Amino acid sequence: MMSEGKIYHIPAMLNECMDALAIRPDGTYIDVTFGGGGHSRAILERLGPNGQLYSFDQDLDAYQNRINDSRWHFVHGNFRYIKNFMDYYGITAVDGIIADLGVSFHHFDEAERGFSFRYAGPLDMRMNRQGRKTAADIVNNYEESELARVLWLYGEMTNSRALAARIVRHRSTNSITRIEHLLTAVGITTAELPDGTELSIDSRQKKDLARLMQALRIEVNDEMAALTEMLEGSKTLLKDGGRMVVLTYHSLEDRMVKNFFRSGRIDGTIEKDFYGNILSPFSVIEKGRTASDEEVERNPRARSAKMRSVMRVANEVIS
Ligand SMILES: C[S@@+](CC[C@H](N)C(=O)[O-])C[C@H]1O[C@@H](n2cnc3c(N)ncnc32)[C@H](O)[C@@H]1O
Repeated sequence: MMSEGKIYHIPAMLNECMDALAIRPDGTYIDVTFGGGGHSRAILERLGPNGQLYSFDQDLDAYQNRINDSRWHFVHGNFRYIKNFMDYYGITAVDGIIADLGVSFHHFDEAERGFSFRYAGPLDMRMNRQGRKTAADIVNNYEESELARVLWLYGEMTNSRALAARIVRHRSTNSITRIEHLLTAVGITTAELPDGTELSIDSRQKKDLARLMQALRIEVNDEMAALTEMLEGSKTLLKDGGRMVVLTYHSLEDRMVKNFFRSGRIDGTIEKDFYGNILSPFSVIEKGRTASDEEVERNPRARSAKMRSVMRVANEVIS
């Protein structure tokens, strides 16, 4: 479902991403985060008649943006299974992969999806609506220590223990199933309102709330594990000379991508040859580029985007 008149998404750093992908017209490409299809459409524009593009999204809402083009294939699934899906399509090697991580404007702007503290609505946050765990399940059922761990790890919240204790105290008498309930639990008393009602939040509270919501979202969607598996799968799928571009929106995922691109390993462990040169399956092209001022002016949500890109190489030695 999409509310009328709302933009599904505006792609970030579109030209920079296309330059970094250096599209081969006859190549096979994967966009693991289709969303509104902005990056996918730009890839198709650069592909010739024999090029192919596979676009993943775990949220079936994205399918409303489908592209009527015989070179385009939609994969409704989690990108963590990129290797299995591509095996299924009989594709063992690709020329390029793009990942524009996180959620689309659509997720934030649709109150019923429960991603934003700006609107009254259910506390959901599942990108895949068939997913078993909602944000409400986490805040109502996790042990206090487990909840504190999520807030600390994924929200980098220094007050994670106190906040978890507060939520647990609140839920002992009230179940927390809506955004308004969560706000009340953390001390921003809010009446229950019809879905979609805009909530007034003090600008000083927004930063902490954004961290809280980020932490819950990452846990609901198991985002760090999915990213790990997608990066590993991509490494095996990329041809020598193939390109990979990743746009990240918070430091946790950016750190993981940065380490992986530098070393070829998720834990970032560097392998060196006899002479002390770094051995890596990637040659780094873009080391964390951000959107131009002009783009941020036009699309403020591009402010937190960071782009990294690499070329796959056969055990290149980097001195
Ligand atoms: C930032 S948006 C991508 C926007 C897109 N590049 C565009 O131009 O419109 C991220 C999209 O990836 C999807 N997504 C996030 N994590 C995913 C995962 N693990 N597997 C598949 N899709 C995922 C989300 O549902 C969302 O639609």
